[in-house]
Amino acid sequence: MLRPHTAAPPLPHARWWRAGVVQAVSPPGVVDLEPGYLEPGLLPVDEVRPLYAEALAEFGPAALGYGANAGAEPLRALLAARHGCTADEVMVTAGTSQALALLCTALGRPGRSVVVERTSYDLGRMIMTDHGLRLREVDADGEGVRPRALDLALAQDDDVAFVYLTPTFHNPTGTVAGEARRRELLAVAARHGVPVVEDDAYAELGLDRVALPPSLAALAGRRGVIRLGSFSKTLGPGLRLGWLEAEPALIETLTGRGQLVSGGALNHLTSMAVTMLLGDGRYDRRLSWLREGLRLRRDTLVAALRAGLGESVSVDCPAGGFFLWLDFGPRRDEAALLAAAGRAGVAVAPGSRYGSAAGTHLRLAYSLNSPDRLAEAAARLSAAWRTEETLR
Ligand SMILES: Cc1ncc(COP(=O)(O)O)c(C=O)c1O
Repeated sequence: MLRPHTAAPPLPHARWWRAGVVQAVSPPGVVDLEPGYLEPGLLPVDEVRPLYAEALAEFGPAALGYGANAGAEPLRALLAARHGCTADEVMVTAGTSQALALLCTALGRPGRSVVVERTSYDLGRMIMTDHGLRLREVDADGEGVRPRALDLALAQDDDVAFVYLTPTFHNPTGTVAGEARRRELLAVAARHGVPVVEDDAYAELGLDRVALPPSLAALAGRRGVIRLGSFSKTLGPGLRLGWLEAEPALIETLTGRGQLVSGGALNHLTSMAVTMLLGDGRYDRRLSWLREGLRLRRDTLVAALRAGLGESVSVDCPAGGFFLWLDFGPRRDEAALLAAAGRAGVAVAPGSRYGSAAGTHLRLAYSLNSPDRLAEAAARLSAAWRTEETLR
């Protein structure tokens, strides 16, 4: 049974939610709006617990063998059915981060470029630069990368390994590219013969019950597009499980690389466990429940910030994903805003972390706290920013 969002979350394991066990934890008393994590009460502990037993009962020793290099066929078939492609166009990964690292080695080489949005996912950028790739930033608007800017960048640089885009619930801006924009971007990339990597980590977290445009991968029939999917944002990042969709020839190349030939599929047992969840409707019920919880959190934070900040800051409501992208206009001091937030006991992410776009921005995640804590954070931030020099 999925717990109603109005009920208090179970807390018996709270003592384990601390540094040294999970990745980053803010000090007690701080309301942490910084990382793109799910609140512990939104992580599906009770739903995941039986899955390993079910997978071992169903697959027996095959769940403990080296998994097929591209991932076990039952999961690939289920993912293919969900995303409108064939199983040979799907490869299981250990999440989007691993998939991106694999693509950096398979498509890139040190010194080559990757075209990215001027504002884009900081850790994706880090993975690419860790591999010696150079980031070539291009301008974006409310629908993501401008096709003209992409065209210009690809015309000026003949050594681009790939274009990295997040057209759906962009991190950090929350924007969604419409279908026409998607088609334009695909046409530009195809004209230059450059592959597109579509990071779709938040694709299943639309919160407004409106139909989304097809993925870039679907629009292109996966030709020249590699789409990255993840269970990190819908189930939990501790599973380290995701997938990619690409042309079968590229999947063969990727699965022929030493890491997979040596070790087989990454996280094979977990992938068999998630297969059990995906196969019988439990995953979809979980998604509806999670969207409801995130919608409540997003709406609470947006309403409380708008009420507290008035006209002084533009608070757009994203249609999905985890983040608000606050726009403070061109002349605010990011360091002063952060410091004021810190003194008020709220952690937020500096906009400059995500690239070099003009203006002052902060990113606030609504995913990691309860609606009550979010309302409290908004009140603290509004008071801090309005009374300090920061918004005078
Ligand atoms: C845009 C984007 N891509 C990828 C990731 C990481 O995903 P994974 O946990 O699947 O590696 C994140 C997580 O913050 C993200 O925001």
